[in-house]
Amino acid sequence: MTDGPAGRADGASATGPAAADPPPVQVRGLVKRYGELTAVAGVDLTVRTGDVYGYLGPNGAGKTTSLRMMLGLIRPTEGSVRLFGRDPMHGVRALEGVAGFVEAPTFYPYLSARRNLELLAAYDGGDAGDRIDGALQTVELSDRQRDRVGGFSHGMRQRLGIAAALLRAPRLLLLDEPATGLDPAGMRDMRLLIRRLAGQGMTVLLSSHLLNEVEDVCNRVAIVRAGRIVYEGEIAALKRGAGARYRLQTTDDDRALAVCGAQPGVSDVSVDHGRISFVADEAAVAELSQALIESGALITAMAPQTVTLEDLFFSFTEGDGVPAAAAEPRTAPEAAI
Ligand SMILES: Nc1ncnc2c1ncn2[C@@H]1O[C@H](COP(=O)(O)OP(=O)(O)O)[C@@H](O)[C@H]1O
Ligand SMILES: [Mg+2]
Repeated sequence: MTDGPAGRADGASATGPAAADPPPVQVRGLVKRYGELTAVAGVDLTVRTGDVYGYLGPNGAGKTTSLRMMLGLIRPTEGSVRLFGRDPMHGVRALEGVAGFVEAPTFYPYLSARRNLELLAAYDGGDAGDRIDGALQTVELSDRQRDRVGGFSHGMRQRLGIAAALLRAPRLLLLDEPATGLDPAGMRDMRLLIRRLAGQGMTVLLSSHLLNEVEDVCNRVAIVRAGRIVYEGEIAALKRGAGARYRLQTTDDDRALAVCGAQPGVSDVSVDHGRISFVADEAAVAELSQALIESGALITAMAPQTVTLEDLFFSFTEGDGVPAAAAEPRTAPEAAI
């Protein structure tokens, strides 16, 4: 289900991590039970150097609980977490190079953004204080650093939370739903910020139940449902595996419908709002267009309908875990579920 670290050998440069370096996050058989309730039911995942990794699932799926275990805030009932090969429960040293927050970051509302960071830097020690200016700049809060956090929007607080994490000069950032509750502009800012951090060489794991944004930001995802991973891998592969739905119009739709029904590789043929609809991969579409010409039903329009991560997500989380390639694209404008 997961690739070994050897898969990164091609990406390792002379100055980069050796192929044998332990991955930023390696989770195996992770379980958390609260009495009768199993919040996390055996999660395996691997975050590799340079990943922006999306940990996706609906509310209650076990994302926050998983992240708490990854950050060493609570002890797993079973299984293991390794961050750069170290167990996060093994003291502060084990969390070197790691930062993040679970649920919303908290600050003193009556103090300024800068003062809050100064207090955190003093607590962290070392040269954290020297990083305050850079962190504020990265999250674009330099202009507002003297303002009280109490007056900040939710998006500004989330960004300040990331600034606080940056004081620790992390190589790995673990962020729990950083974009949840943000307005569209706030979400766009968060997306840009995460891309900027990844561009600076940080590995990021972020949880989300907001799918359209992670689709743009993450290269790899795990989809978690009821405490279990139902998919882990590349978004591109996930989408490829799903095939694509097409809409078709021809000069003779009755004939075209018969051709589609008989064509190998073309499935789930139906008529929707007077237009033919089917699922196929590109090779099958090419052959279908040839067959249609030969039948005399000439194509006037044939358009692929985009399969979004939302479609895939719904098919994984609602059904029996098998992605429904034939899923109709959802029209819900809001990705929250
Ligand atoms: N401290 C706790 N005690 C009891 N149940 C908990 C606790 N924390 C989380 N849960 C339960 O575990 C499940 C997963 O919760 P959570 O990890 O917060 O999900 P998510 O972050 O994906 O929304 C939920 O059913 C939640 O009610
Ligand atoms: Mg949560």
